[in-house]
Amino acid sequence: MDRRDFIKTAGVGVAAVSIPKMIFAAALTGDEIERKIATILPQLSLDEKISLMNGVLRHTVKEIASGGLRPGQGHGFTGYTIGIERLGIPQIKCLDGPRGVGFLYKTTCFPVGMARGATFDPALEQKVGAVMGYETRALGANMLLAPCINLLWHPRWGRAQESYGEDTHHLGVMGAAFTRGVQQHVMACPKHYAVNNIEDRRTEMDALVDERTLREIFLPHFQKCVEAKAASIMSSYNHVNGPKAGQNKHLVREILKNEWGWDGFVVSDWGGAMDDATQAANAGLDLEMPQAKFYGEKLKAAVDQGKVPVAAVDEAVTRMLRQLFRFVGPDFGKGYSQKKIAGTEHAALAKEVARKSMVLLKNDGNVLPLSGVKTLAVLGRLAKEPNLGDRGSSTVTPPYNVPILKALREKPGLKVTYSGASLVRAKALAKNSDAVVVVVGLNYKDEGEGHDRKSMVISPAQIKLIKTAAGANKKCAVVLIAGSAVTMEGWLEKTPALLLAWYPGMEGGNAVTEILFGEVNPSGKLPIVFPKSEDQLFKFENKALKVEYKGFHGYRWLEGKGLEPLFPFGFGMSYTQYKYGNLKLNKKSMGKNGRLEVSVDVTNIGKLAGEEVAQLYVGYKGSKVERPVKELKGFSRVALEPGQTKTVKFDLNAKDLAYYNTATSAWEVEEIDYALFAGPSSRKEDLLSDSFKVSGA
Ligand code: BGC
Repeated sequence: MDRRDFIKTAGVGVAAVSIPKMIFAAALTGDEIERKIATILPQLSLDEKISLMNGVLRHTVKEIASGGLRPGQGHGFTGYTIGIERLGIPQIKCLDGPRGVGFLYKTTCFPVGMARGATFDPALEQKVGAVMGYETRALGANMLLAPCINLLWHPRWGRAQESYGEDTHHLGVMGAAFTRGVQQHVMACPKHYAVNNIEDRRTEMDALVDERTLREIFLPHFQKCVEAKAASIMSSYNHVNGPKAGQNKHLVREILKNEWGWDGFVVSDWGGAMDDATQAANAGLDLEMPQAKFYGEKLKAAVDQGKVPVAAVDEAVTRMLRQLFRFVGPDFGKGYSQKKIAGTEHAALAKEVARKSMVLLKNDGNVLPLSGVKTLAVLGRLAKEPNLGDRGSSTVTPPYNVPILKALREKPGLKVTYSGASLVRAKALAKNSDAVVVVVGLNYKDEGEGHDRKSMVISPAQIKLIKTAAGANKKCAVVLIAGSAVTMEGWLEKTPALLLAWYPGMEGGNAVTEILFGEVNPSGKLPIVFPKSEDQLFKFENKALKVEYKGFHGYRWLEGKGLEPLFPFGFGMSYTQYKYGNLKLNKKSMGKNGRLEVSVDVTNIGKLAGEEVAQLYVGYKGSKVERPVKELKGFSRVALEPGQTKTVKFDLNAKDLAYYNTATSAWEVEEIDYALFAGPSSRKEDLLSDSFKVSGA
């Protein structure tokens, strides 16, 4: 039976040829929603129920979509369900994230997720989520396929840029903030659940992960999004301990749905994330996208043969209806203007985020800011290129974008000369200018969805360019474009200043210019560790069919091995200086269910106003199991005028210090001493320290 016939048998054949007028549910309370679902379910045939459990293909979508888009743009939703008009069941209509909405429309292009992770600013990230949620809804969709909260296990992961970083606490805080923002308007979809961090063999590989690593490293950030009431979660392409991730009953039914008590729905990643209808339905995967390969006839047969209970189908439908009725009311389209999409307000937010995301990694001799510079040589092809990041599903097409060279050329009073790759010209220009800026790094060809990075270095040609520039002019700054860590052997020591700009979005060039010239003080911090060389890390097994995930990664790995990184996790400089002092705990001991308050004073001891990200880490003294040297447990961004001191407060809950005890299958807070660290980065020398004890209940 082909999909259309299936739709017809399911009683919704008209929808395939005519444009349905959707009857939306009223804004209902939770109880009313449950009652409404209870009246609808018995009126649905099994075919109809199953028709709600899968998407329809894009070309079919074009025929059936009700639209709400700008004329001439088609209806390019990323995914789409059929809905059932006679019962007022709305369609699920998805658009992709996470650096902006969709890719057919002229939407706001924000800095990539990794850049936003570097802001360490959940309040700002919530605003980003709210803008994307608004734009999604103004375009007629009701679900945004974001945030991406996969943990960066190895810096060569092709999709690193889509996620916020390597640390589960940080990922959870940022992802939950984004989710809350999106859900002011539409359903969010944190993705990809779970242990998804290799591209090259992403649909075939099996992530072999032990229970403790799974619980402590790979899942807590998903749980934080669940606590933020995420409407849906996308399962990943990879297998986890055998079955496909979304077909893994332990991951989906036992942990996500039962243990965490989550009432949303699980959507499969787009084709390739499923291979067995029975296994998927019994594990609790609710919606197959983008079309019915398994959740059509195969699911029907499995139900008919008693392999999948009708209750599992009812549950999937219930979960989707619950979220649809929660989000899609009669006024769904009202008050949302497409004119606001990528308008002044949204673009201003994209710029603010770009400003706060860039990380100053080196600034010998205060080469930056480029004060007094009247003539500037700009070098490197990436200065000119519109370099917004990956061109996979996270592609965004903004109405404009400002490459770095363009922004610098538009700076009043500055004379800019440019050379792409020619070393001879680069040398001449650098020599004859007050300063030189070299833009190097990566683009979508080097890293992106479906392909991992081949190495952690930048190209030899770019390294030559840096050396030439720095050799010709001492006032040399490198701007690095990348979505993840880059190693810098052979060139870092040559350049006095280095600004990491990530993929900074449609306003990126403007933000880079403001930072280079000191109109904005840099304040981003690294949400990932930068190793000195790839050899410092474990092997990246992107070609393997089975990959074992065990123990620690990122800064936890390097610290555990006693290896000094190139730049530590949490590191980032400023044009001013901060001093930390007065680390205080409100008590030196707490019970296993207790909570303690930590405070630390941060003073701006420099001459410029700035923003600083204060960080809190905890170490485990005498733990009976292997633990990381320390782990991030809190962070807070503060704005400080010169001379100003602010007291930053952190809450520390004993339960957040627990490890997962596989013998008892439970979280266990150890009654031991804990080391406490506060400061500007994870580097030991930068941190103030104290300790406390957990004992008793
Ligand atoms: C990606 C998802 C994306 C989906 C829809 C998949 O290939 O992994 O992140 O949301 O496509 O475009």
